[in-house]
Amino acid sequence: GDVRLWGGRFADGPSEALEKLSASVHFDWRLAPYDIAGSRAHARVLHAAELLTEDELRRMLEGLDQLERDVADGSFVGTVADEDVHTALERGLLERLGAELGGKLRAGRSRNDQVATLFRMYLRDHARVLGGLLADLQGALVGLAEAHPEVAMPGRTHLQHAQPVLFAHHVLAHAQALSRDAERLRQWDARTAVSPYGSGALAGSSLGLDPEAVAADLGFERGSSANSIDGTAARDFAAEFAFVTAMIGVDVSKIAEEIILWNTKEFSFVTLHDAFSTGSSIMPQKKNPDIAELARGKSGRLIGNLTGLMATLKALPLAYNRDLQEDKEPVFDSIDQLEILLPAFTGMMATLTVHGDRMGELAPAGFSLATDIAEWLVKRGVPFRVAHEVAGECVKVCEREGIELDQLTDEQFAAISPHLSPQVRTVLNVPGALAARDGRGGTAPSAVAAQLADFRADLDLQ
Ligand code: ARG
Repeated sequence: GDVRLWGGRFADGPSEALEKLSASVHFDWRLAPYDIAGSRAHARVLHAAELLTEDELRRMLEGLDQLERDVADGSFVGTVADEDVHTALERGLLERLGAELGGKLRAGRSRNDQVATLFRMYLRDHARVLGGLLADLQGALVGLAEAHPEVAMPGRTHLQHAQPVLFAHHVLAHAQALSRDAERLRQWDARTAVSPYGSGALAGSSLGLDPEAVAADLGFERGSSANSIDGTAARDFAAEFAFVTAMIGVDVSKIAEEIILWNTKEFSFVTLHDAFSTGSSIMPQKKNPDIAELARGKSGRLIGNLTGLMATLKALPLAYNRDLQEDKEPVFDSIDQLEILLPAFTGMMATLTVHGDRMGELAPAGFSLATDIAEWLVKRGVPFRVAHEVAGECVKVCEREGIELDQLTDEQFAAISPHLSPQVRTVLNVPGALAARDGRGGTAPSAVAAQLADFRADLDLQ
């Protein structure tokens, strides 16, 4: 028979071209387990409203259990003619229970409130998966910081040497960004814990069904939608999810860019593990950072998924419009990409060899201790404006002579400024410069150790 849910007023079936355009089973099939869970909850409220007898409810739930098993083992699958997952599963139920009982489940619900609910359930589950994968990556970064507590490196602004920082401090800066992404996922989840089931097509149901009972049944902690029009039409939860995944992509891609740089001959800051790098088909010596490059590339794709979805939502009139069927593929793709990328990226970071000596050697290069001269002068009462000038003069002399700041002679210092006594050398070394920045959030080993301990404690709590 005709599987369509809306054949009644039509004399002709859909054209093949329409069927092809309309079909979403090939991407919404992943919602099948959630659709069945929704059907169970719906059967229970139909029973509570005395629209299903005790016996009908029992047989309905058995039919849904059977359908769930058949979906899980692949013996029941949706087809193009089914249009979408909801229609396919209705067909499956009719096949298992007969049209008389199977046809009762549709009362008081619409694919509009179904899909809005199931999409939320699917995303909430994957928010948890992504949170776990993010925790793994944060764990790898914390591990790097813990393994190299003393290593100094050139801290940069504008990609130029700026001031020395601890490698652990730098790595934890990335970890902090990822922990905000994980927090975003948790906050998104709390906001999304509202069930649209019971909103019907847009106006709610006249059958006396209890949307709050369905919400509780499906694990929506904040109950059911306060407004059935909003419940069926709103997709800001999907857009926000797409934003968080894009932000994760961007944050990971920033780490990736540094790994790519650090892995060059010129930097030689890190060596990638063989298991997490690739070779070249023509150049035998090559060892390429493909994981980092794919991370950088995929971030563009994740941004595209977000902007594509926003463009779909823009200017849609209330309530449900079929445009909304375009909401799922971009978000599903973002999830799929991150669930593939993050384990590989975490493996690459966890197995990184860090060349601490090389980083430490370059930490003072590029006159990165010039600020320390200026601040040393300030502590001796010199106005910062003058101190800045004097330290700049030191750099100028060094550049002219082709030497580093700590190679200036006592005479050269004195000639630049009478304030520059030989004691200035106490700050012209990396350990001194690091140790001096011991306020909260600073790069001193003591401050970074405190940050690391706090971070580790928060990570373990999640
Ligand atoms: N497959 C549709 C979607 O994803 C389900 C809702 C269809 N509703 C409708 N009235 N055509 O948006």
